[in-house]
Formats: sequence, C-alpha cells, structure tokens
Amino acid sequence: MNKIYFLIVAIIFFNSCSTKKVDKADSNIETKVDSVLAMLSIDEKVGQMNQLSSFYNSDPDGLKAMIREGKVGSLLNEVNPDVVNELQRVATKESKHGIPLIIGRDVIHGFKTVFPIPLGQAASWNPALVEKSSHIAAIEARSKGVTWTFSPMIDIARDPRWGRVAEGYGEDPFLTSTLGNAAIKGYQGNNLSANDRIAACAKHFAAYGAAEAGREYNTVITSNQELRNVYLKPFQSASHTGAATFMAAFNEINGIPCSGNKKLLTDVLRNEWGFKGFVVSDWASIPEMINHGFADNETDCALIAANAGVDMEMSSHTYLDNLANLIKQGKISETVVDNAVRNILRVKFQLGLFSNPYVDTVKSSFAADSSLIIAKELALESLVLLKNENNVLPLSTKIGKVAVIGPMSNDRYEQLGTWVFDCDTNTTVTPLSAIRATIGNNKVIYAKTLAYSRDKNTGRFYQAISAARSANAVLVFVGEESILSGEAHGRAHIDLPGVQADLIKELHKSGKPIITVVMAGRPLAISNILPYSNAVIFAWHPGTMGGTAIADVLFGKENFSGKLPISIPVSAGQCPIYYAKKNTGRPADYNSWIPMDKIPVRAPQTSLGNASQHLDDGFEPLFPFGFGMSYTTFEYSNINLSSPSISVKDTLVISATITNTGKFDGYETPQLYTHDVVGSITRPVKELKAFQKIKIKSGESVNVTFKLTASDLAFYKSWNEEVVEPGLFYVWIGPSSNQGLKAQFTLQ
Ligand code: BGC
Repeated sequence: MNKIYFLIVAIIFFNSCSTKKVDKADSNIETKVDSVLAMLSIDEKVGQMNQLSSFYNSDPDGLKAMIREGKVGSLLNEVNPDVVNELQRVATKESKHGIPLIIGRDVIHGFKTVFPIPLGQAASWNPALVEKSSHIAAIEARSKGVTWTFSPMIDIARDPRWGRVAEGYGEDPFLTSTLGNAAIKGYQGNNLSANDRIAACAKHFAAYGAAEAGREYNTVITSNQELRNVYLKPFQSASHTGAATFMAAFNEINGIPCSGNKKLLTDVLRNEWGFKGFVVSDWASIPEMINHGFADNETDCALIAANAGVDMEMSSHTYLDNLANLIKQGKISETVVDNAVRNILRVKFQLGLFSNPYVDTVKSSFAADSSLIIAKELALESLVLLKNENNVLPLSTKIGKVAVIGPMSNDRYEQLGTWVFDCDTNTTVTPLSAIRATIGNNKVIYAKTLAYSRDKNTGRFYQAISAARSANAVLVFVGEESILSGEAHGRAHIDLPGVQADLIKELHKSGKPIITVVMAGRPLAISNILPYSNAVIFAWHPGTMGGTAIADVLFGKENFSGKLPISIPVSAGQCPIYYAKKNTGRPADYNSWIPMDKIPVRAPQTSLGNASQHLDDGFEPLFPFGFGMSYTTFEYSNINLSSPSISVKDTLVISATITNTGKFDGYETPQLYTHDVVGSITRPVKELKAFQKIKIKSGESVNVTFKLTASDLAFYKSWNEEVVEPGLFYVWIGPSSNQGLKAQFTLQ
C-alpha cells in the first residue's frame, strides 16, 4: 500500500474559546454570566448544577424552600404553566440572587401534537419537515413553560432489539447528522429567547445505541475508529450546529462510564469541538457509576463526574451533597464548578430567562390546523411501501366494502409511540376513522379481533374471517403497542407479537387481497407475513395524523415516498445488520450460499462456501437501508462524473438522470454512496454521502447532481488522526443502499 496520507483534521483546540471570534451579543452574555457567578457562594454555585424532577404536587413548600435557598438550577417534568410561573417567581424574587430555573422535558416527537417517532421521521428523508415539526413541538412546549427539550436523540442504532431505536434516526451517521441538525434548528431557531423556541439536547453522548445485544443500558465495547467514524459523527455535527446542551449517556464505553468520561466530555466535546453549552447527566447516571464498578461511593461519583465535564446532575444529588465539601477539602478545584455554572448560566441568558422567566398562561395553541397539516405531511412521508404485488395498491375509492382488522386499526394511543407524556389523544386520527371518512361508513366492516398487539386469544378470529369474506379488500393493522419500544423496552425476538402473524395467515385463506400495515417502534422481522400479504406498508408509530396519512396512500390520494432509515432484518439472529458493513476476507454471495434446508445430509465440511453468512438466514437483511417503493417507477441512467480523477482541492460533480417511468407523479430520493476501495484501515463497503428528495412527474426526466470534496471522504484511522487517502473510489447514485448506478474515480 504505497499511499501518501493527508492529515487534515488532527487539530486539537486546547482552548477553543480563545481562538474563536466572540461577537458582541456573546461578549455581553459572558459579562453578565461572570457578574452573576461572582455573587454566588460555593453552595449556590452547586445549586445551579442540580436538576430535580418536580415534586410540586407532593410537597410544594419543600420544593419552594429548596429553590428559595438556591439549591435548584433546573427542574424537569413540570408542565403546569401556573406552577412554572410560581416557581420562577420564587426563584427570581425570593432567592438571594434571583436566578431563573430552566425547565426541561422529554419533548421527543411533539408535545400535544404528536409527530411520527423519530425513526419514522427519518424514513421521510426530509430535513425541512423534521425542522418544521420540531419547531411546532417547541411552540407548544414553551407555551407550557418548558424551555429545554431532551431531544434529539442522535445515537446510531444498528440493532433493532434495542428499544430506543424508536427515538433516533436509524443506522447511518450521515442521515442521522442531517436530521439531528434539522431538529436542533427547529427547536432553537436563530434566537433561543424567542417565545417559540427551546434549547435542544443532543443525546446520549455517546455510543448508547451500541449496547451489546440491544439490551438496555448495556456495555459498549468499540474501537476508537468506530467511535469517531460512526457514533461520534452526529454529535460533532450537533455541536457544530449549536445544540445548546448535551446529555451524557448511561453506558460505559470500553470500561469508562460516559458520565465519568473526561476524554469524551472535555477533551473532545469542549476542547476539540469548542462546545459552549452545558452537559447534563442522564437520570441518576452519576451515582450509577457505583453499579458500573467505577466508583466506590457517591462522593467519588460527584468528583469523577464534575472533573470529567458533567455540568448538571439530573435527578440524583451527589453534587448537592458533596461538591461544596470537596472544594473545601481541596479535592476539586473551584474552577471546575465555576466553569460548569458558567455553561449553565450562559444558556439561561441565551433563553432570555433572566429578562422574562414567565409563561403567558392565556395564550397557547395546541394542535393548530397548521400543526396538524405538518403532522400529516411528516406521517405521510414516513410511510414505507415494502411490497405491492400486482399493484394491488392503491385501492379505488369505489372498491365497495373493505374489512378493517387488527389491534392497531383504531387505537388513539398506541399509534403515537413512545415518549408521549403530553399527548392529546383526542386529536388522534386512527386509520379506521380516516378510512371511514374516505370511502363512507357503510363501506367499512370493522373487526378489531385482537385486543392489543400481544393478545394471544384466537377466539375472535372468526369475526375477522367473516369480515374478510364479505369485503373486496382486507386492511390489517398490526404491529407493536407503544410500550414495546422506547427506554428499557428491548426485545430479544423482534417479530410481530402475539398471534398477529397467525391472523394474517388465516385471512389470506379468504382469497381477498391482504394489505398489511405495520405500526411499530422498531424494524420488525416480518418475513413470516410477507407470503400472506399482497401489500405491506411499514408505518412506524405515525403519530396524531397517522390515520389520515395512511388512508390517503391506501386510496391513492397521495403517493409513497418513505425510504428505510434502518435495515429490516430477516431475524433478530442477524443483528446487528447494516449496509455500511466491512467486506471481510470472505464476503458472502448468492453463488456460494446454500440455504440450510438445501444442505445435503453429510455434506463435506468444506463444501458450503465458507463465507460470512448464516446458514439459515443468509447474509442480507429482508429490506435494505434506503429502500422504499412508490406507486410509480423510477429509472436511473447516465451516471456521469466531472472528472475521472480529482485532487484533494477539487470538487467532484456526479450526476445521473432519473426518469419517472410510471403513471403516477412521485417523490424519489436518490442516494449517493461511496466506497474507498483500499484503506490504511478497512473501509465500509458503502457509505451514504448525500441525498436529495425530488418530485418527478410521470414521464418526466430530471438530472440530479451531487458534489463531493476530499473532506467528504475523510475518516479517522486512529483516535486523533483524520485522513483522506488517495486511491480508487467507487461511487453510486441509486434508489437504495443495494441498488444504483456505479462509477469510479481516483483521488490523487
Ligand atoms: C433517559 C433520557 C431522558 C431522561 C429524562 C432518562 O431515563 O435516558 O433520554 O431524557 O430520562 O426523562
């Protein structure tokens, strides 16, 4: 390998503050922060670093007393605006220095108006819509006094057994960075103090999604390269975009819990990326370092976390109980605490809380028509069409009778997904109600059949079968209830729970077209229902307006445009499985793979291809990353490169023609992938570098153009060494990660 390495970004900013230009507004805020800090006693400083879950309902006087004494910097989970106002009054008028509280809440995919779960939002591949939905969430949350959301979750997740896969944007660092940035912009806008904006929180820093076996809170063992090139990428991007806060993750990485990880929280986040916001721990993640076996007692936990760079402690109180003493004993420098408090006060000033900590309790606009329109658009764009045999879809509105069956067909809550504390189920539109509104009440035969997704009672199958027999099409709504994904809701088996697959199999016997709609918080292994479904739609948990969006595509008012943000595996046994894999020394292919049932008895040991595969489930997912069908067809042609070779200073322009060869207008999302053929460390077989979502009318051809520069091809070959290596690269423009037009270029 005779390569020259261009070291491009191994630059460590030891003190980014001194190297960055500070504008006037920033310097004003810094002056104000310093003047507040100068007034505070050590105890009051530590109070700012303390975040409690509101216990106003159980002990209002106790909570007020703590705030009055300067022992609380932030509250989470208080969404009663009258209470927020009262507590802000106590903080600003009755405490010695009048510092307002910052009120946090998990506003994860909407507040009252619920948008699709983030994984569903990611299937839209539409950053503009993600930004709009986050803005609406900010408007609704701030009107209740919430000024800080613990979102977006930008943990790369490649194992759908992990319940929190629902909360992020999937398996890919580029897609996750793009959509995470869009969410941050939507929450924060350009001015955090505006009354329609809230502070975002990039979480969980870092590599939480790499939990072994998808088991929640689990150990993460990964390489420096994988951390840098995959797991840290979206966080670097979020810091660059200006996320006001970061949250330290629960997990350990290679033996060091994130809440005590100085390398991550200080060396990388502060010194290298120049992060100016504050870092909050996760819920009690600081004392949990005792369980990790990383600290002996809570005093040590506080010492380790504060020194590592956790500015605020969530819910537990090791800081409140220990930091002041540790300073007095000279075990921790007061500067550590000063820096943390500066970071917190800075965000409070940016949010305008010192000027006006109160919320206008008269004005609030929940589920405004304009918000529901965005909720519907995002739900629509999140729907992924996986199968459409003989174009069974779209259905004609004149089809006559349809059967609507299944536990997810008319459940106002279960279609909303995880983390919807503040949802308003009154505004939910279910598929059943939207289908009734589309084709008329009298055309719909409804048979719920199963009470909920895990229901194992086959006793009402007869109702479903009779409904199917009387109908011209059967619409089955299956999936997972909301509670089956999200935090600490991992599953070892990721198929349809209960007897839902049996129900579909039975319905298939009716001979009627079976259209299966899956609503779930994770990719589900649905190979067992594919043969019994003529069409399959993956709808995630689509939120408030999910029903309308689904009815609109079913009856052809709208077209599909969603693409998978994560691979759908054949089985849990394949996991983790993702497109940006390494090739291995013995890559599998269909020429050599012999499915297990076809292996002759007593076949000689070396006759089986000896490749990287499973005998039973092969080597490919059921549906790959980036895949999603439409009612129309798109043909890709004429891939063209501006040059067969570029230097590190050049920009390569790659283009292709896409023609809508079908009868419907539609959106297509061409994706640009590259492969660095030979590297000083092995490189993934494909990496997403860019995408566009474009409308192409039936019969129309468009030329799509992407630009690549050397920095797009950079990667970390070790912890501190980011390089661009010359050599041969393949490039694809295609409709998914496993299709597309291929070309090549060299980087000189
Ligand atoms: C979760 C965080 C969440 C926090 C506050 C924790 O258990 O891991 O994602 O923001 O609770 O509710």
